[in-house]
Amino acid sequence: MKNLRLDSAAQIRANAHNIYQQAVVLRQMPMSNATGVTEQERQALGQWYLGRAPGS
Ligand code: HEM
Repeated sequence: MKNLRLDSAAQIRANAHNIYQQAVVLRQMPMSNATGVTEQERQALGQWYLGRAPGS
């Protein structure tokens, strides 16, 4: 709906903060948890975001 695509590493890097907010902090994504993402997977996403080098 927002024309956001996460098909490439570059797109994921460019949207890292939004991905972190939506999937780890606010937990609004995946919508209704349609894909059954686990708590462990959310934690792993958080570690990826917080541990990454600035700009990467
Ligand atoms: C871990 C998996 C997912 C991630 C990281 C993710 C991430 C995001 C992000 C960052 C946005 C933009 C939010 C904003 O800027 O306000 C978004 C929007 C959206 N996502 Fe996801 N998403 C995921 C899975 C899903 C799934 C499985 C669905 C459908 C069942 C879905 C449906 C949508 C929709 C409909 C929007 C637009 C919402 C709006 O317009 O307010 N997403 N998602």
